[in-house]
Amino acid sequence: MQEVFTLKNGEELIIRQLHADDYETVMTFLSQMSQENIFTNQYPGQPKRDKEKSIQTYELPTNLFLAAFKGTGEVVGLISIMINKPGHPWTGRNASFGISMLKAYYGQGLGTYLMGKAEEWARAQGMHRIEGTVRSLNRRAINLYLKQGFEIDGVFREVALIDGQWHDEYHISKILK
Ligand SMILES: CC(C)(COP(=O)(O)OP(=O)(O)OC[C@H]1O[C@@H](n2cnc3c(N)ncnc32)[C@H](O)[C@@H]1OP(=O)(O)O)[C@@H](O)C(=O)NCCC(=O)NCCS
Repeated sequence: MQEVFTLKNGEELIIRQLHADDYETVMTFLSQMSQENIFTNQYPGQPKRDKEKSIQTYELPTNLFLAAFKGTGEVVGLISIMINKPGHPWTGRNASFGISMLKAYYGQGLGTYLMGKAEEWARAQGMHRIEGTVRSLNRRAINLYLKQGFEIDGVFREVALIDGQWHDEYHISKILK
């Protein structure tokens, strides 16, 4: 699948699944993205580098890695969603997602679009529930998730120490009816 998504500012991005060949541009993206915000779980500037494992993860049928590419080929945004326990008799219909983009692309509608695509994929896989975590100070992401119909399940207290202050994280989920 490949689509063109037009940002609110008129820039067109290509949206498609990651392939093995995308590994280096994804690492460049993760490195920049993780230094630009305090909301990531990546080590800032040092994305985990296990090339073979990453590539396998992109291509597993129980995962979706959907990226937004500039016309020049660089990744500027990424959403991943993975079935937590594929085939498990009781918990096999839950999937976890993560989403991020470069700062220059915030507020342009890309997050809403990518979340919609992840949900569409989860529904097609027969998922019952999609879930994630978000820092309590990440208002932009929380607003996006609430707007998409997610609810807060609960609070993980004092997970992240940022500039000398502890911050909670919320566990969020959406039941796919
Ligand atoms: C969080 C993130 C995915 C949101 O994506 P986005 O493309 O910026 O969001 P959108 O433009 O689609 O806007 C979605 C909603 O977010 C909220 N939002 C957007 N800008 C906002 C701002 N400046 N302040 C508060 N809420 C804001 C609004 O509810 C908006 O909906 P609306 O446009 O209908 O009002 C993106 O900003 C990002 O990658 N941030 C850094 C990494 C990160 O925080 N990832 C999530 C970790 S849990």
